[in-house]
Amino acid sequence: MTVQTSFITSEITLDKESEEPIYQQLIRYFEMNIANGRLQQGTRLPPSRDLARQLGIGRISVVSAYNELQAKGLISAHPGRGTFVNGNENLPMMPYQSTSATSYGNVPNQNIREIMRLAEKPGVISFNSGAPPPDFLPVESFRWAIETVLQRDGVSAISYEDAEGYMPLREVTRDYVTSQGIDCRAENILITGGAQQAIDLVIQSILMPGDILLTANPTYIGVLDIAHVRRVNPVGVPMTSEGIDLRALEDILMEHRPKLLYLNPTFSNPMGVTMPIHRRRQLLRLAEEYNLLILEDAVYHELHFDAPAPLPLKAIDEQGVVIHTSGFSKILLPGTRIGYLIAHKNTVWDRIVHVKQAADICTSSFNQRVVNTYMKHGRLPGHLDHVRHILRQRRDAVVSAAEKYLPEGSPWEVPTGGLYLWVELPKDSPTAAELYMTAVQHGVAYAIGSLFHPNGDGQRTLRINFASHPPEVIQEGFRRFANAWRDFQQQSVERKPLL
Ligand SMILES: Cc1ncc(COP(=O)(O)O)c(C=O)c1O
Repeated sequence: MTVQTSFITSEITLDKESEEPIYQQLIRYFEMNIANGRLQQGTRLPPSRDLARQLGIGRISVVSAYNELQAKGLISAHPGRGTFVNGNENLPMMPYQSTSATSYGNVPNQNIREIMRLAEKPGVISFNSGAPPPDFLPVESFRWAIETVLQRDGVSAISYEDAEGYMPLREVTRDYVTSQGIDCRAENILITGGAQQAIDLVIQSILMPGDILLTANPTYIGVLDIAHVRRVNPVGVPMTSEGIDLRALEDILMEHRPKLLYLNPTFSNPMGVTMPIHRRRQLLRLAEEYNLLILEDAVYHELHFDAPAPLPLKAIDEQGVVIHTSGFSKILLPGTRIGYLIAHKNTVWDRIVHVKQAADICTSSFNQRVVNTYMKHGRLPGHLDHVRHILRQRRDAVVSAAEKYLPEGSPWEVPTGGLYLWVELPKDSPTAAELYMTAVQHGVAYAIGSLFHPNGDGQRTLRINFASHPPEVIQEGFRRFANAWRDFQQQSVERKPLL
């Protein structure tokens, strides 16, 4: 890695058309380069007057940036001697771009997550979250539901609840999933702390440390986190444009006889792929033949833009090989942490309930009642129509931005539902992690695709949460991405070893 002990002004790229103030762009440039070690401790920064002149900007912008960097302890001014970099102890470490395509193949996920945290700054258009946008959340309706619950239920609303959940909510959930084709009784529904907890409970109840957990490759990052803390081995099944590759799956089933497959078959996170119904049936046949349980995660099922999603696996599961989970985070309120799990009543069910009791006694009694009241008053369908309408507009915006701004040779598919656009960078390009710093310097961030791969593959992939911004911001974000891409290519050609 080349480090920099003198300062190269030509490397600073400022976007004067951006809405982000110039001084903030400067701060981001310095933070990035201090974090990644290019600007090392002791590097002397140019006097504010000189830097302003060289960059063609007002001196006040440089002074403001230096002041803030000083307040953060990243640089120090020494009267008479100059301004110097202090070092990067106060910042997470970041990889510096390398000319070798595979040089960051084994950057641990933790590092990548810390890098991505650097983008959480005002002025950066961030496409990296996994959450629905805050402007979707029906705050007023929930205010009404909260007051209704408190007035109606009084103290029982804030007491403990059954471990399996508040029965009226289980009943409402049964009616809701019946409308998706799932035939079950309220007794088969366990209310959980979000789908995340449901996944964790199932993994704990079915697998032992050291067991294989099959997932798609790439898969939802939260399941990889659970695998890590529960000490099970995630093994990724390659993805096709129609969901996991069933031939590859069968090879693994024959060889390893794993017990559990976790799958997000509809508008998957991170790829946005949906498994068609005929492949769902094939998958169930394989599961029955090889005695495999499938944990179906359907949190994006309702978020379709064009045609409704195919039937959930649970709706066509005749042999009871599917455990279904979903919740209200992606369609209503992530912070209420209400999800559910649907399974046959058998020994696995008993174990899951036992683990649930051990984990948290019960899911918040109050929040269960609030969601139940909201659902009972029939407010969800109208809210979902509204959310889908806005998501469709944002999807259209991301498609036109991708057509206009993504580099040639970057395959991507038009999302038909969910929150994400999945992009592959051209084969000979920098990795998504390498490009990331330049992108953030240009004021745009994305989720680095290798995070979603159990084996660290997918170095040249990235995920865009297009739901998080209105159309004009999506356009601007992609414009910045295109600038970053151009800049990175240019820097790679121009950069010479400095020492
Ligand atoms: C595929 C998938 N499953 C589960 C979750 C977590 O859902 P919840 O908030 O209901 O725990 C997420 C959140 O990003 C997700 O993308």
